[in-house]
Amino acid sequence: MKIGIFTDSHYSSQKVTCSNRYNSKSLQKIKEAYAYFKSQNCGLVICLGDIIDKENDHIKEIENLKSVAKVIQNSNIKTICLMGNHDAFCFDTDEFYSILGTCRPENISEHDSLLIFCDACYFHTGQHYKPGDSDWTDTFYPHAEQLKECIARQDKNIYIFMHQNIDPSVPQTHCLSNADELRRIFEDSGKVKAVYQGHFHSGNTSEVNGIKYVTFPAMCERESAYFTIEV
Ligand SMILES: [Fe+2]
Repeated sequence: MKIGIFTDSHYSSQKVTCSNRYNSKSLQKIKEAYAYFKSQNCGLVICLGDIIDKENDHIKEIENLKSVAKVIQNSNIKTICLMGNHDAFCFDTDEFYSILGTCRPENISEHDSLLIFCDACYFHTGQHYKPGDSDWTDTFYPHAEQLKECIARQDKNIYIFMHQNIDPSVPQTHCLSNADELRRIFEDSGKVKAVYQGHFHSGNTSEVNGIKYVTFPAMCERESAYFTIEV
């Protein structure tokens, strides 16, 4: 199956934030991305998180997310959106997915592959990020044991999708505090083929003990930051 991927669109009304994030341009870029995914016959689109960015007013954040939801729904391509830290700092999980419609992550089984989606918008305490929080450097995946058991039950090639990073060559500020534990689970299973992530805006690729780690560049910082993978 061909999958379209984009990440870190950070859509908001702001023209520029952090000197190189062109937030307001992202709605148009998401439309372009879907046109490209359609031309490539993608059967699935995955947004790896930070789909929107903060406004002074939550009403405006809702409006922005609704605009993105409209693009997704009009595309008629099944789409899964992982929450990024910026999404979780603006919306609670239920509000986020009720606005987006049908984009809630669920594992997808396709021939000999299984796609697993992990929400790592948690503090090391195990508490999920909530609107008003802001410490994106404290990131953690609290369901490692369940993930290990889920992988153990499979006889398929496994692909992991997550907003935050577990690739050891990405700066530590962007990585989960239990990234080592997750890498060990993936390596010991012998089934995880690749891990796909966003969050680190420059992007990165590496291979560690036979597992490919791909961090996609942020859509808000460049043109044509949309990609396809084949699983
Ligand atoms: Fe981001």
